Amino acid sequence: MWSWKAALSLGTVANLLGLVNGVTVYYIPGQAPLSAATASAATYTGAAAYNPTVLTPPPVPTDLPKSFTLQLVNGGTAGASIPVPGRFFGFSIEMSVVNQVLGKNASFIQVPFLNLMGNLAQRSGGVQVRVGGNTQETAVLVDSTPDGRILEKNLTGVTNPTQTPPLIFTPEFLYLMSNISSLVNVHWHIGVPFFNVPNFNLDIAVKGRQILGDRLIGIQVANEPDLYVNHLHRPQGYNEFNYADEFGELVQAMSSDPNEAENMNILIGPNIATEWTPEQVWNTGFVDRFSSNLAFLAVERYPSDNCFAQFGVGVQRNPQDVFPTYLTHAAGQGIVSSYLNSTAFAQTKGKPFMMFETNTASCGGFPGVSDSFGAALWGLDYAMTMAYSNFSGALFHVGGQNVFYNPFTPPPTNQSDFHQWTIGPIYYSALVVAEAIGSSNNSQVLDLQANGANQFTPAYSIYEGGNPVRVLLINFNSDPSGNSDVTASIAIGGGQTGQPSSTPASVKVKYLRADSIAQKANLTWANQTFGDHFASDGRPMGTEEIVTVPCDQNAGVCNIVVFAPSAALVFLSDSAMTENDGAPATTYATTARTKLFNTVTIDPAVVSTSNGHKGLTQLGSTSKGSVSGATGLKAHIPGLSVVFSMVLGAIIILGRKW
Ligand SMILES: *[C@@H]1O[C@H](CO)[C@@H](O)[C@H](O)[C@H]1NC(C)=O
Ligand SMILES: *[C@@H]1O[C@H](CO)[C@@H](O)[C@H](O)[C@H]1NC(C)=O
Ligand SMILES: *[C@@H]1O[C@H](CO)[C@@H](O)[C@H](O)[C@H]1NC(C)=O
Ligand SMILES: *[C@@H]1O[C@H](CO)[C@@H](O)[C@H](O)[C@H]1NC(C)=O
Ligand SMILES: *[C@@H]1O[C@H](CO)[C@@H](O)[C@H](O)[C@H]1NC(C)=O
Ligand SMILES: *[C@@H]1O[C@H](CO)[C@@H](O)[C@H](O)[C@H]1NC(C)=O
Ligand SMILES: *[C@@H]1O[C@H](CO)[C@@H](O)[C@H](O)[C@H]1NC(C)=O
Ligand SMILES: *[C@@H]1O[C@H](CO)[C@@H](O)[C@H](O)[C@H]1NC(C)=O
Ligand SMILES: *[C@@H]1O[C@H](CO)[C@@H](O)[C@H](O)[C@H]1NC(C)=O
Repeated sequence: MWSWKAALSLGTVANLLGLVNGVTVYYIPGQAPLSAATASAATYTGAAAYNPTVLTPPPVPTDLPKSFTLQLVNGGTAGASIPVPGRFFGFSIEMSVVNQVLGKNASFIQVPFLNLMGNLAQRSGGVQVRVGGNTQETAVLVDSTPDGRILEKNLTGVTNPTQTPPLIFTPEFLYLMSNISSLVNVHWHIGVPFFNVPNFNLDIAVKGRQILGDRLIGIQVANEPDLYVNHLHRPQGYNEFNYADEFGELVQAMSSDPNEAENMNILIGPNIATEWTPEQVWNTGFVDRFSSNLAFLAVERYPSDNCFAQFGVGVQRNPQDVFPTYLTHAAGQGIVSSYLNSTAFAQTKGKPFMMFETNTASCGGFPGVSDSFGAALWGLDYAMTMAYSNFSGALFHVGGQNVFYNPFTPPPTNQSDFHQWTIGPIYYSALVVAEAIGSSNNSQVLDLQANGANQFTPAYSIYEGGNPVRVLLINFNSDPSGNSDVTASIAIGGGQTGQPSSTPASVKVKYLRADSIAQKANLTWANQTFGDHFASDGRPMGTEEIVTVPCDQNAGVCNIVVFAPSAALVFLSDSAMTENDGAPATTYATTARTKLFNTVTIDPAVVSTSNGHKGLTQLGSTSKGSVSGATGLKAHIPGLSVVFSMVLGAIIILGRKW
């Protein structure tokens, strides 16, 4: 048995680091581990994040039109979104798993996490991450913990039926976030505990500002306050007016705290789920009243829940039955429709409107749905629908080992010596959205109502300066015969538009693919993958494949095949692929050493394999890293290789242990 040890230090190789065992895995509220009996794969008893359930793809529609035209024009298109920030697609990381996902402390950062964020920042210019969730409400900042960890649960206080453990965390927790931002362009949202009104504990806000500086862009004021009554945190009758008044009490508390005065303008509200409508909150005058305090307006929403499987409450839902409901353009539209009025309202108030926490289903998602290729297309289409609908950000939730929907999951702590990370479908959605939107912070998104507004084949155009630069095409159908592939004929100008045709001679296309909509793992983006369970160090593996499609100059169209299932991102010019790269791909001198294990030194030349623009770093390899002794689990990882192209000034240490 051999294993990878990944670690990082800053500047010179000052710290020798290794992944360690023994960190407590917290239960996520509403996401306690599923019992074996509820897992659909009859013999499976392991953690939800590695559940093997594979569902049956829904039947394909018999009336699917197989080809359609997409007529685009230059110089502005009515109905396009407001400018979308490059960091649109971000993550919401449950506070209780930060020490598993981000790192053990400020000098022990999880390299896979950095790589995953770096992949996105290279495409989009930056990433936004929220650290919080239900666990933020009871978290207490302490100077130190007895055993030196940055985060622990305080079991003394547990009374809540959803097993929410009160957390204690140290300033090192915030230094960890800060140190990540010094390596990758990540900006952070946090949340201030809101249960004890009006005796707010503002420590996280004070220290957050001190330590994170302008890397801190938002402070959430209450997480789902409309559920406070249900969860027994407020008396019956607590309503949106009470919330607004309490928000005012928090602002008051901050303004009377000299440390806090400058934090008052980055608050986020109302962060409601579904018990109150946004309009109820708007109609209290909330936004005008706190206009100088509110940096973002936000809501949280999951389209469904799997709480019955977990707690025996609510509606029992069979994953196979719900699967088709995710595999259509109507899925994202259905969630977004109740916020269209609010995104219009937010524009009139000059406030960005965000989806602050979302994923396939609350209470952990559904086996076979949340972790399938279908979820990748769902997340992609849903996010693009939000962008088109004038949201300014969408954060997809990350829980622990016990959820099905994670975009990325570190190995269980007692397996971190021999397992790597598991990259879920939602991370692939993030990659594609980052590339589709790009890094200008100025692109606009339009839902093209493609194929007669067919629900299985949505398409979007992305504009820079009013001109189309990229087109995203999705085919939700799953049909290995090829009979449900569709062809989109893209035209720019010409025809009835009154503009001369500017359809290019050829376009470049990247595909997001899997053999089936139900496939788990080994999804590919431009032929690169993060592999199967436990297989990823956060860098895409394999050779990038960008397809060049010649266009029909006589007809003035580019005919793009969209496989069933797949998504295709069409770059209408070479500059559409390169002009808005988020960050340069740069490689660094690399060395390798570990304190405890056999070591190897890596030739920097071997690692300089980055191909720059939007194509990510390919894994280099050395003969020293032959994997002949490896188990099947990692046999497909090229040998020992280190490329950390997207991180400035970083030295990555990868050691291996036999
Ligand atoms: C950070 O965590 C690593 C791994 O647990 C540990 O070896 C190291 O001593 C910690 N550093 C500090 C400053 O706590
Ligand atoms: C842990 O919880 C107990 C009971 O609620 C509380 O008295 C104690 O102060 C908590 N410890 C810390 C460090 O917050
Ligand atoms: C990383 O965090 C430590 C605190 O543990 C701090 O002393 C150090 O300056 C940080 N480094 C960077 C680059 O932010
Ligand atoms: C839209 O929001 C405004 C402001 O809250 C509200 O007055 C109006 O009733 C809402 N319209 C609909 C259709 O919900
Ligand atoms: C988004 O905002 C723009 C600009 O206000 C508007 O024209 C467009 O209709 C909005 N889109 C949606 C889906 O509401
Ligand atoms: C890790 O811990 C879990 C839970 O205690 C246990 O079931 C599993 O066997 C352990 N795995 C290893 C490799 O030690
Ligand atoms: C886009 O916004 C991000 C986050 O604010 C910023 O870091 C980046 O520099 C911006 N990019 C451009 C091209 O303005
Ligand atoms: C993923 O690919 C690996 C290596 O080709 C293979 O062993 C594994 O079975 C695949 N897993 C899935 C779920 O397709
Ligand atoms: C896709 O990636 C695999 C694995 O790296 C490679 O063997 C294959 O040649 C690639 N295909 C294309 C068309 O680039």
